Amino acid sequence: MTNNVNAYRSAILHSLADPAEVGIEASYQYFEDGILLVENGQVLEVGAASELLPKLQGVEIREYRDALITPGFIDTHIHYPQTGIIASYGEQLLDWLNTYTFPAEGAFADKAHAADVAGIFLKELLRNGTTTALVFGTVHKQSVDAFFEAAQALNLRMIAGKVLMDRHAPDFLTDTPESGYADSKELIERWHGKGRLHYAVTPRFAPTSSDAQLELAGKLFGEYPDLYMHTHLSENKAEIAWVKELFPARKGYLDVYDHHKLTGPRAVFAHGVHLCDDECKRLAETGSALSFCPTSNLFLGSGLFDLEKMEQHGVRVGLGTDVGGGTSFSQLQSLNEAYKIMQLQGKKLSPMKSLYLATLGGARSLYLDDRIGNFQTGKDADFIVLDYNATPLLSYRMQQARSLEERLFALTILGDDRTVKETFAAGRSVHQRD
Ligand code: GUN
Ligand code: ZN
Repeated sequence: MTNNVNAYRSAILHSLADPAEVGIEASYQYFEDGILLVENGQVLEVGAASELLPKLQGVEIREYRDALITPGFIDTHIHYPQTGIIASYGEQLLDWLNTYTFPAEGAFADKAHAADVAGIFLKELLRNGTTTALVFGTVHKQSVDAFFEAAQALNLRMIAGKVLMDRHAPDFLTDTPESGYADSKELIERWHGKGRLHYAVTPRFAPTSSDAQLELAGKLFGEYPDLYMHTHLSENKAEIAWVKELFPARKGYLDVYDHHKLTGPRAVFAHGVHLCDDECKRLAETGSALSFCPTSNLFLGSGLFDLEKMEQHGVRVGLGTDVGGGTSFSQLQSLNEAYKIMQLQGKKLSPMKSLYLATLGGARSLYLDDRIGNFQTGKDADFIVLDYNATPLLSYRMQQARSLEERLFALTILGDDRTVKETFAAGRSVHQRD
């Protein structure tokens, strides 16, 4: 073994496939005493310690006891400029935007402010074990420069974009179809494909963009390879009624985006709480993805996402926190709330499906499963160490657990930022809890 290799010994768990497609048993790989080998920021090999140890003469091995190594979490929908308004009281979506969100986003005209918040935001993601996120900026292009500069300094795989918004918002937050297109293009040229960064064309949602702006957004989405499109869809009943009023010629909410060529692979729609069967079918056939944002859907009173319906239609689904509408940066807490959302619908969310949603499922919804999501050889070494003794209660609960699935389930219900002992991005330790 060369001295470029780093070895991490612990229990190790990663997803291999969607449990809905292959069954629970075939969906994961687990090593009770495993080793993860990392070389030049990538996964070299994962396996049982008994098999790998003989090959590791001269390699220093980091050992974690009472811990579980998993791939880094993937957050498929979050707003970095809303970090400071998380936990804002009392409103549903449209009033919440006007009361809290728009005033907070106005401050991002100042690049120094944007840089401060980007730093706080990325630290918070890493404290929670999230190594990749699809991120809204604000309408200001400097908000995206500040974000990408901070992400680049940490060598993170991140996706972000400037908000496009040319109506139904305060003057200080609007662009025009032409300026939005030009500013986005400038950012794409500067950042898309640079290191591990990717750009997302980001119309906020249908009500805040004119047809002219959505048309140009669709054109831009088609102009560069591997570009993302990131927006909101069918989150809240009053929002849906408003879209109907604003776009009377369209069949429904999704059709507004579809009409403007804003669907397809790498198009990611946050929420999709109130979609009809035809819309689900259309998402699946275009290869578009939904971001399921449990803490946000509950906090903003939006409704209950039907994960099972999306599975039946074959829609790609990732997990999102949607901070600041969402109430936690922790994907473990998102899974806690996701489980309850399924319970309220008389449905189940198995621990292995939860693991899949937070890791490989997120990677698949972002078409990044060739780079991240599990420990296949050659993928980015983005991984986390979860501590079974993070809190007295978790520790005591783990002592009662008799199976991996029981332990994993308790982690998703009781876990949060305290559970994440260490976070690695491209093989480098970027967060240490202690
Ligand atoms: N719809 C349009 N903008 C937003 C936003 O900032 N947050 C959420 N949750 N939904 C939105
Ligand atoms: Zn959102």
